[in-house]
Amino acid sequence: MNVNLINEKFQEKFGSQGELFTSPGRVNLIGEHTDYNGGFVFPGAIDKGMVAEIKLNGTDKVRAYSVDLEDYAEFGLNEEDAPEASWARYIFGVCREIQKRGGKIAGFDTAFSGDVPLGAGMSSSAALESTFANALNELFSLGIDRFELARIGQSTEHNYCGVKCGIMDQFASIFGKAGHLMRLDCRSMEFEYFPFDPEKHGYKVVLLDSVVKHELVGSPYNDRRASCERVAAVLGQEFLRGATMEQLDTVKDKISEEDYKRARYVIGEEQRVLDVCEALKRDDYETVGKRMYETHWGMSRDYEVSCEELDFLATVAQECGVTGSRIMGGGFGGCTINLVKAELYDSFIATAKSRFAEKYGHEPKVYAVVISDGARRL
Ligand code: GLA
Repeated sequence: MNVNLINEKFQEKFGSQGELFTSPGRVNLIGEHTDYNGGFVFPGAIDKGMVAEIKLNGTDKVRAYSVDLEDYAEFGLNEEDAPEASWARYIFGVCREIQKRGGKIAGFDTAFSGDVPLGAGMSSSAALESTFANALNELFSLGIDRFELARIGQSTEHNYCGVKCGIMDQFASIFGKAGHLMRLDCRSMEFEYFPFDPEKHGYKVVLLDSVVKHELVGSPYNDRRASCERVAAVLGQEFLRGATMEQLDTVKDKISEEDYKRARYVIGEEQRVLDVCEALKRDDYETVGKRMYETHWGMSRDYEVSCEELDFLATVAQECGVTGSRIMGGGFGGCTINLVKAELYDSFIATAKSRFAEKYGHEPKVYAVVISDGARRL
């Protein structure tokens, strides 16, 4: 992350110096589309994120500069002041959600930059929201607890960015801890840190980015959520969480074929997260990998959030003998997350690159995963 460039731009735009805050993107080992179903997720924060330099400016206006987009926006803090630029709406949304919770904030200047690849399913938007939620909480001494900071980011997505997302990404970005994944129960919000050190056991975790643009705004993401809510309602439950396949089968003729498949994926995924956590306790990476493949094909065939390129990457992984591979994040493009034996790593990456390039005309991008800390002051 180029902090010097942020400093330089802040100085150039605002003629002073502010304080630095950062929040990371995330990976998710397993538990996809379970968060808004009240289920379990198993994410970790990564060493890529957003950094913002911020200084209170004594006015009632926010003046924001996106270093990466070379774009500037200025807006007030009332509902009618919502900026046009979508990147600025994330910052505006965080301000508004803080205010709705009774937080007293005022104008500030900011320049920010990130190194989470956009649209890769690594939660660049949660990194942005968490950076500002955490920074404003500190700078205005608001005393908001960390769960609420995550909810502020989530409500920003719902109310200002058009994505009815769950809590996983913002939670991971705020609560991340180096060397640990977190199993979060999205119904009770109880969570547990799990030490995660695959290298110690001869494995590596790597992301392969198909570079297929992933866009959740106004996307089928919200439709998936609506399917799940319809099935939960027919089952007489608040969430799909806790429903069994047998229960689902008893209502099969009351729901559409499509909703049935969506729910079948979610119910299966619930159990897979728990299996993976248990397997990790025994250092049983083979089971972890098996469940990852099951998730991939469930997301592809039942939940229908994959795409040709991601199915291709998972297939190549399987053919190369990779332990586990699956689409990561919301879907519709982005990355696969791969659990691969150290001795297979180089040949897998080389094969995946060349076969993908042969078919799609460009190589996938490769990101090593380093599990890192959550939102903090720099
Ligand atoms: C996106 C959402 C999350 C979660 C994942 C899928 O990243 O922001 O809340 O639903 O998709 O697991």
